[in-house]
Amino acid sequence: MSDPDFVVVANRLPVDLDRSPDGGQRWTQSPGGLVSALEPFLRSRKGAWVGWPGVPDIEVEEFTDDGLVLHPVSLSAAEVRDYYEGFSNATLWPLYHDVVQPPVFERRWWDAYVRVNQRFAEASAKVAAQGATVWVQDYQLQLVPSMLRELRPDLRIGFFLHIPFPPVELFMQLPWRAEIVRGLLGADLVGFHRPGGAQNFLWLAGQLIGLESSRGSVGVRSRSGIVRVGDRTVRVGAFPISIDSAGLDSLARSAEVTKRAAEVRASLGDPKTMLLGVDRLDYTKGIDLRLKALHELLREGTVDPAEVTFVQLATPSRERVEHYQRMRGDIERLVSRINGEFARVGHPVVHYLHQSVGRPELAAFYRAADVMVVTPLRDGMNLVCKEYVACKHDQTGALVLSEFAGAAAELTSAFLVNPHDLDGVKRTLHAAINLDPAEGRRRMRALRRQVLTHDVDRWARSFLDALDG
Ligand code: ADP
Ligand code: G6P
Repeated sequence: MSDPDFVVVANRLPVDLDRSPDGGQRWTQSPGGLVSALEPFLRSRKGAWVGWPGVPDIEVEEFTDDGLVLHPVSLSAAEVRDYYEGFSNATLWPLYHDVVQPPVFERRWWDAYVRVNQRFAEASAKVAAQGATVWVQDYQLQLVPSMLRELRPDLRIGFFLHIPFPPVELFMQLPWRAEIVRGLLGADLVGFHRPGGAQNFLWLAGQLIGLESSRGSVGVRSRSGIVRVGDRTVRVGAFPISIDSAGLDSLARSAEVTKRAAEVRASLGDPKTMLLGVDRLDYTKGIDLRLKALHELLREGTVDPAEVTFVQLATPSRERVEHYQRMRGDIERLVSRINGEFARVGHPVVHYLHQSVGRPELAAFYRAADVMVVTPLRDGMNLVCKEYVACKHDQTGALVLSEFAGAAAELTSAFLVNPHDLDGVKRTLHAAINLDPAEGRRRMRALRRQVLTHDVDRWARSFLDALDG
């Protein structure tokens, strides 16, 4: 097969190698929004994907999956600890999410981050055809653009950050701040979800690195800019990501999902109102806040436990990182406390599944739910809220959405809340539970118009068109 002229580079491959205790192994879909968004796009484009297979100390040969070339990069157990759990998820993740947990700065983790980024750059340099486009993804690989340019100046390199880019005051805490900015500036185009992220980055390129940078559009969207790096021009812009809206809309309309949605409601005892949360189990998602709000509403008698059921689907995530272990304990204590006080035998108020479910099952939960509760303290975009909207072709349902999710800028007909304001969350949940159906339809129509016309294909095309310049 000839070398691919389009290559995606991400920390994870779209599939994870799942090893069972009996020695068997199988590939399963990787968790998280990056893979949910990019996989359908890349499958239609038939490029190559460079990434880690999700388990340490394993060498896997390159293989082809339905026309997509998967090129595994291996990580040792120590690298998983220092580069992935450490620098990526205990330093950068909390720092970039408004320090909702304190970031940890460890020099050993940084060294591993540099080493692993170099390995990803070398793997990408080996895979890409002459003059190919290479699209580097997310916070785990911010040094790859400049490392790759060093190895392969012939390539066109794009970078997209799937999480928020923090305010300058927070970013400046990072001991390796200049190295990260220089790493990103190896790209021809650096993309963020929100214009604010692009502006913060432009400021850093100008003030921290001392490069000539200016705001204003040059072929990319408004509130974008350029940076001059020697004789190169780096473009910087905002590109809000989305989902495969039409695909999900049609899955949700299928007979199988329709039947399963009715079964879900029946197995919950046909509650008057079903609330739903769907998240990776992450402290940025505000799962505890929505549970606290529900708990207070039940205690005050504003919500009747015989009428309202809350289902929380939570994908296991980053389970060896301390922040995550603490948060899991807190959430599980809250769930059992609410059920302890308000459940009846056979009728828990909160159904908590620490599990990942398949796409059709997830679509059935979305269809079944009356109120979708999305309350992150900070989220780059949040795809779950868009997925819910795409599944509600009958225009029922209400979306409660945090102002601090990137999606709030687009989904203005949702019930927007400040998740830090517990009384506000309670009031909003109460309003969504008691929504007038005509008002609900009006809101859902507007939400669906936005989500169905702004899908992931449009996002990818707008980024790649800007990259083509
Ligand atoms: P993040 O990327 O931070 O995880 P997003 O909301 O952008 O957040 O994307 C999460 C993705 O993971 C969505 O596509 C969602 O459908 C999927 N997901 C989350 N929780 C589950 C679950 N319990 N089972 C299956 N898929 C899930
Ligand atoms: C978010 C990040 C992705 C990451 C995903 C799942 O979507 O932006 O880069 O892959 O979460 O997290 P994990 O650590 O399991 O890869």
